[in-house]
Amino acid sequence: MNAASNAAQDAAQPYPLTVLGIESSCDDSAAAVIRRHPDGRVDILSDIVWRQNDEHAAYGGVVPEIAARAHAERLDGVVIDAMRAAELDYDDLDAVAATAGPGLVGGVMVGLMTAKGVAVARGLPLVAVNHLEAHALSPRLTETLEFPYLALLVSGGHTQLALAEDVGRYRRLGATIDDAAGEAFDKTAKLMGLGNPGGPAIEQLARNGDPERFKLPRPLHGAPHCDFSFSGLKTAVLRAWQDLPAPSAQDRADMAASFQEAVADILSERARNAMRQAADAGARVIAVVGGVASNARLRAALNAAAANEGFSLIAPPPKWCTDNAAMVALAGAERFARGMSDALDVAARPRWPLDQDAARAAPASGGGRKGPKA
Ligand code: KG4
Ligand code: ZN
Repeated sequence: MNAASNAAQDAAQPYPLTVLGIESSCDDSAAAVIRRHPDGRVDILSDIVWRQNDEHAAYGGVVPEIAARAHAERLDGVVIDAMRAAELDYDDLDAVAATAGPGLVGGVMVGLMTAKGVAVARGLPLVAVNHLEAHALSPRLTETLEFPYLALLVSGGHTQLALAEDVGRYRRLGATIDDAAGEAFDKTAKLMGLGNPGGPAIEQLARNGDPERFKLPRPLHGAPHCDFSFSGLKTAVLRAWQDLPAPSAQDRADMAASFQEAVADILSERARNAMRQAADAGARVIAVVGGVASNARLRAALNAAAANEGFSLIAPPPKWCTDNAAMVALAGAERFARGMSDALDVAARPRWPLDQDAARAAPASGGGRKGPKA
């Protein structure tokens, strides 16, 4: 945050804000309570996440209908648990925030309706949060991170580089033209017979692998822009895997390591291009956010790329990289602190680009397995 927007914010909101956040845009039912102080410090008073991995295990991916039903069955209990763990009453809250998109719309509707119920029953303001903004702001849960900064958002449904200019103001510098990075991890894991989500399984396996064993492509290598492509990598992994009739434990580890290395290379090369653009806008920090940001190899590669460009890397603890409600509560608090809240008839949005202008200019960008979420 620059000095001007800091001052504007303090004038608008000089007291701490206590906010309940609700997240249900994919397969995690989550609720959290945070308190955001005017100087930007955040206390995380509770954080409850109910992961639905077991429900979807038999299908090898997230089934939207099953996810929506599971959210409907659990979310009220998760909210009650979050309030209890925070040792607060609803009267202690200043606002309630929920992810209103983008995401699997059945689940998003469940979370948004739950938040509306709390808002109506307790006379609280409602803040409809963009899930991508929640990821983009997530480093501010634990770090002092001033605007503008560069955000590399890498999750199961999205891969993009955006300049975070302020709360509510993002400029997209690039995005995937096919799969999301997390989706590439999940598909590779599935091919190798690993469980879902695939990212953590690949990372674990890669620890004992040789990242140079399989020569995998880096699609768009050397391109001057900030867009990504992962589909050629996916096809190359498939071919290399099929060439191993009976893969040994070492083959598996080497494949995981070679794939992970390729993704880390692709992401850090594009991040380097974006850092050069972001530097012109005054940014000196790159924040990596979203589920894939928990990957230690990726963090190391980005750290090296950042150092080369005179940037510093901020990567939230893994728990705040994967979907959680603390980041939603924080995005709600940051918006509310700037006078932004929403009417009770606000709708769930399956699509909701972070940078609406860029999305209008290039609507096809950002596809992914989770379809509507991308
Ligand atoms: O942000 P997130 O929890 O949900 C979405 O908004 O999509 O991201 C989930 C994605 C999955 O594709 C998962 O495989 C990936 O993040 N992921 C990882 C790791 N942990 C989660 N990918 C690579 N390495 C990890 N350690
Ligand atoms: Zn997410």
